[in-house]
Amino acid sequence: MTSSRSSWKSNIGFLLASIGSAIGLGNVWRFSYMAHQHGGGAFLVPYIVALIVAGVPIMILEYGLGHHEKASSPLSFTRVNKSFEWLGWWMPVVAMFGIMLYYSVIIGWCVNYLFYSFSLAWGDDPQGFFFNQFLQLSDSAASLGGIRIPILFTTLLVWVACWLICFRDIRHGIERASVIFMPVLFLLTIIIVGWSLSLDGAPDAIFNHYLHADWQKINFLAHDPATRIAAGKVWAAAFGQIFFTLSLGFGIMITYASYLPKKTDIAKNAFITCLVNCLYSVVAGLAVFGIVGFMAQSQGVPFAEAIKGGPQLAFVVYPKAISLLPKMNTLFGIIFFLMLVIAGLTSGVSLIEAFTCSLTDKFDWPRKKVATVLCIIGFLGSIIFTTRSGLFLLDIADHFITNYGLVCGGLLECIVVGWILKATVLRRHINRHGIGVPKLWNFFIRYTTPAILIVLLFISLSGDLSANYGGYPTDQLFIYGVGWMLICFIVALVLAFQSWKSDKLKRRHKPGEDELLV
Ligand code: PHE
Repeated sequence: MTSSRSSWKSNIGFLLASIGSAIGLGNVWRFSYMAHQHGGGAFLVPYIVALIVAGVPIMILEYGLGHHEKASSPLSFTRVNKSFEWLGWWMPVVAMFGIMLYYSVIIGWCVNYLFYSFSLAWGDDPQGFFFNQFLQLSDSAASLGGIRIPILFTTLLVWVACWLICFRDIRHGIERASVIFMPVLFLLTIIIVGWSLSLDGAPDAIFNHYLHADWQKINFLAHDPATRIAAGKVWAAAFGQIFFTLSLGFGIMITYASYLPKKTDIAKNAFITCLVNCLYSVVAGLAVFGIVGFMAQSQGVPFAEAIKGGPQLAFVVYPKAISLLPKMNTLFGIIFFLMLVIAGLTSGVSLIEAFTCSLTDKFDWPRKKVATVLCIIGFLGSIIFTTRSGLFLLDIADHFITNYGLVCGGLLECIVVGWILKATVLRRHINRHGIGVPKLWNFFIRYTTPAILIVLLFISLSGDLSANYGGYPTDQLFIYGVGWMLICFIVALVLAFQSWKSDKLKRRHKPGEDELLV
């Protein structure tokens, strides 16, 4: 059956698709805000350390595993050890139902704002426009308050676009789309960065806030315990960001690598993906700090007051800055929101692909039908996030999924590959072609990375148990209720897919066998 699998037309197509998955909304609004909060330039230190000890090793692991087994994550893990099929399902189920349902709605918002840019519809008060007119946010997460039709409509558009791409096999769908979208994305980004840097107030914000390093914030060896704890959190945040930004722990990179030809330089590909993604974040940060600096200066407010995190950065701060621009405001708005839509779409299709491929691999169901049914179910599931309490719900889902779902997935995959498949076996496979991976990688996969992820889990858990997450105007019980319901739903799906019998698994070959002999 492996012979009938589609494959990438070229290595560059594969790279663009993987980089497309990694570069997403998070690179624009998550990274910059984190850098601002966590010591400016100093944040780059934990970020780069996290990239080296967790990002690159796990990227190599995911590429290596998918390539070794020529299968998406459920089949790959089953082939490593039958009792770990559930882990293989956990990752794409979290991707599809934990993330894509709300991620598609945020891309939908960007489409709405792309249209609003033509008339600068947010007017003088982008904050009021976003919360009161656009989202019409309800008072509490618990009262859904009805569906917002404009958001429902753009969310449908997003699902249709994803369906059109995922419907075809990898070479004619995702690869073709990435080869067109990614160069456009890079071009739009360069324009936005160049434009932002030319604005008054930009150099000041970049030098004094972005590149200026506050070393105390990352000093986890400080004498003062409060500083030490705060610094620990910064390090944990850097690791979380690396995981999220590189799309690790979802089975996406395993799936993408399963379509690669036999002779492939796995280590080089992993290295390039990580490097381009992280460079993109740093460069996009110049645009964010530049434009916020411009806005702060033209309004005479301090920079720290002007900058905001998460969706507010794109939908409140940016629109405000766009309105203040001396000329060509509409064009700037269109380019900016188009950039977000493209970045979001190329990540969105990868989330759908991880699950589609898992189903076609196990059950031999026709890809077109699977993609169609999944996109319909996905759209229906997204509707809950298009309601008036959508912002609350998606924030809660994001928090639970990225802090627990993703980190657990990454931790378990290190353990399964490091200890059960044996890191050496995979390393030998990876090193058959290309630049090769040093022995140190085994050590990272078996000890360093799992240990760090356990600490990370512990830090998130202790933070959540001690404070009401997000401080929402609703009781903690409700938030935990939603979070746990989501997690239980995911667990139920994982168990269902795992116990669903398929002949395919009985026919499995052991792809690693020949390689174990060399
Ligand atoms: N990496 C994407 C980002 O930075 C988000 C994402 C996470 C996409 C997981 C796919 C899977 O926005």
